[in-house]
Amino acid sequence: MNILFCGDVMGRPGREAVKTHVPALRRSLALDLVVVNAENAAHGFGLTGRLCAELYESGVDILTTGNHAWDQRELISYIDGDPCVLRPANFPPGTPGAGWRLHPVSGGRQVLVINLMGRLFMDALDDPFARLDAILADYPLGAGVATILVDFHAEASSEKMALGHFADGRVSAVFGTHTHVPTADAQILPGGTAYQTDAGMCGDYDSVIGLQKAPAVRRFVTKMPGERPQVADGEATLCGILLETDDRGLARRVEPVRIGGRLAQHPPQR
Ligand SMILES: [Fe+2]
Ligand SMILES: [Fe+2]
Repeated sequence: MNILFCGDVMGRPGREAVKTHVPALRRSLALDLVVVNAENAAHGFGLTGRLCAELYESGVDILTTGNHAWDQRELISYIDGDPCVLRPANFPPGTPGAGWRLHPVSGGRQVLVINLMGRLFMDALDDPFARLDAILADYPLGAGVATILVDFHAEASSEKMALGHFADGRVSAVFGTHTHVPTADAQILPGGTAYQTDAGMCGDYDSVIGLQKAPAVRRFVTKMPGERPQVADGEATLCGILLETDDRGLARRVEPVRIGGRLAQHPPQR
């Protein structure tokens, strides 16, 4: 199975990059599934129903989120009506929406997409490790689940690596999001799980994590609150990861994808 996972889509430039590149990648790579983290799709802060539709139209199947999930309040009432939008599965019980989805793909197969959030240098949440165990107890890899993809939305690379090893051999891939910078550690762990600490953002890299650089720098220099941060509006780099899984649902290939914008280019090889 071929899956493209893209990191945090940052405002309009990020959405444009998805719209520009994903349809062609879908065809050329014969993708079975496209998952993007959309927590920053609305001007850098949250996600709306209209933007969900826009991303689906661009060829995306599943939208994950993170700490910015509720920045646009309309998503709170929207999310229960759209099972393809996920919020972290370790949000407290009773939170609207779902943290995982069993999604049908071609050939009668099913992919399990799980969204989790870290706890190191982030808001207090339920244990993501225990939550993952509980989900995998109900839906183990193999028994009707062809592939399992985990978006671990977390700040600390240590917590992300630990979750990768914790899940090694039990899921197809653990890919990190949230830091908005792609890491150079794409690999297949010893047990067969693909791993990359952060997928990077789909956004303008002439910025401070996707926000306009001058006000962001000023805030660090003066320590004074400034105006509301605005998304940097130059051409975005689409940052993602291409995953190929085998018949057991383990990783056969994992490769970073970087197209457009300022970052060194890494178009996927067929
Ligand atoms: Fe983000
Ligand atoms: Fe985030």
